Amino acid sequence: MDIRVVEGNIAEIEASAVVVNIFEGVTEPGGAAAEIDKKLDGAITALVADGEIKGKRGEFTLIHTLGRLPATRVVVAGLGKSDDLTLDVVRGVAGGAGRFVRSKHVASFASVLHGAGAGGIDAEDCAQAMAEGTVMGLYRFDKYKSKSDTDPVEEITLVTLSGDGIGQIESRVEKGEIIAEAVALCRDMSNEPANTMTPTAMAEHALEVARDTGMEIEVLDRDKMAELGMGSLLGVAQGSSEPPKLIVLKYHGDPDDEDNSLGILGKGITFDSGGLDIKGAAGMLTMKGDMAGGASIIGAMGAIARIKPKVNVVGIVPATENMPGGKAQRPGDVVRAMNGKTIEIGNTDAEGRLVLADAVCYARSLGLTRLVDVATLTGAVVVALGDLAIGAFGNNREWTDQIIEAGANVGERIWELPTYPEYQRQYRSDIADIKNTGERGGGAITGAMIIGEFADDAAWAHLDIAGTAKTSRNSGYTPKGATGTPVRTLVELAESVSSS
Ligand code: BES
Ligand code: ZN
Ligand code: MN
Repeated sequence: MDIRVVEGNIAEIEASAVVVNIFEGVTEPGGAAAEIDKKLDGAITALVADGEIKGKRGEFTLIHTLGRLPATRVVVAGLGKSDDLTLDVVRGVAGGAGRFVRSKHVASFASVLHGAGAGGIDAEDCAQAMAEGTVMGLYRFDKYKSKSDTDPVEEITLVTLSGDGIGQIESRVEKGEIIAEAVALCRDMSNEPANTMTPTAMAEHALEVARDTGMEIEVLDRDKMAELGMGSLLGVAQGSSEPPKLIVLKYHGDPDDEDNSLGILGKGITFDSGGLDIKGAAGMLTMKGDMAGGASIIGAMGAIARIKPKVNVVGIVPATENMPGGKAQRPGDVVRAMNGKTIEIGNTDAEGRLVLADAVCYARSLGLTRLVDVATLTGAVVVALGDLAIGAFGNNREWTDQIIEAGANVGERIWELPTYPEYQRQYRSDIADIKNTGERGGGAITGAMIIGEFADDAAWAHLDIAGTAKTSRNSGYTPKGATGTPVRTLVELAESVSSS
């Protein structure tokens, strides 16, 4: 898909479809929509008067121009109330418009920058959001379909008002495309079934990202992990015949200042059967997606290496299956992590914290002092926050705030839960330093805190994406399936660290 930018008047553009917009509650269209309305003898105004066009967010109305305009069709997109307009609304409208146009079998279309100008949104910010929203909204995972219902959209033309400064707008469109493609890579990996998205396949995707961007990469195999003493990760891996991989991507954006670094870590369980504490059928069905945190790291690292913020970023993905094979770890086993801490296995299905424990130790061994891990860690966070917000947990006020703010800047909602030390008693073990489970109450918190036990004095935060990694319905820029969260937050975080 190609996005080009032209300066001009959308009413004069020749296209299969042109997309304009209208705010909720207005009686007359404004801006480009007004001009098109005039050429259509007031068709849009009439549809507003009839109540067919309300301007609500998610509303799209198709008008056939029948020769009155150079464009064959006009799509009027509802922007919602003008007071509620944000960049995230722009992304959502752009994504919804893309899917709406595609459903009409239109392979190329032109669009105004929704909300720029009349809506008060900066044209450059808007252009990036349009690119992000359109590419993310048009995403689909159809590689296993013999044929799809509609052809892909080939070309999108963003029409800017003259004087907006086309060069700057083009470079922001390009940035938006880079970010949306990183989200697409994360979604592709997460949507891919577990029989093909193995730990080895994850490592191959990371190698490809590294090759394409010239990034440093290292993939540690089972022997190397054993040598480093990663007993916690290897304990999870031992029940599977798929070899585990520890994927390490390194972006050197500030080679002169090693302290200007952060580590981003992601759970890469390519299938979570639960292990010997096996899941039921319903709970197991969606567990191909248990590597979404790891996929978000690989996607974000690719975008960071292309955008090139002045900061060093290390991406770490412990990748393995959690299976109940003959060599599987047993409830009651004790394993030893890379830093020497022992963990009693209270439940083999609490495997995410076990693989992340060694990943955090490894990050610390590299000298990283600012860490964030991303994981589909607990069912408990789904109970707490549903599918609308990522759960956040941390040991450092400023660092956690910086991550939450990065999310807010890009429209990914992150909500913090406490990590009071009194929760620690839940995961005390009678025979080891800690165990990998707590009680039912506060399950997302104890899961997080067990990972935090391995961070020592590093600033560490954990994002639990068990509720937000996938969605069951199309909405705005997020089609059904893997969402690709929190790739955009991670990219924004790297940029915010680079400028602070
Ligand atoms: N991968 C699951 C968490 C999960 C649940 C992700 C639902 C997405 C949707 C994790 O490994 C798990 O099994 N967690 C257990 C922990 C428990 C055994 C302490 C859980 O949440 O039930
Ligand atoms: Zn899991
Ligand atoms: Mn599990």
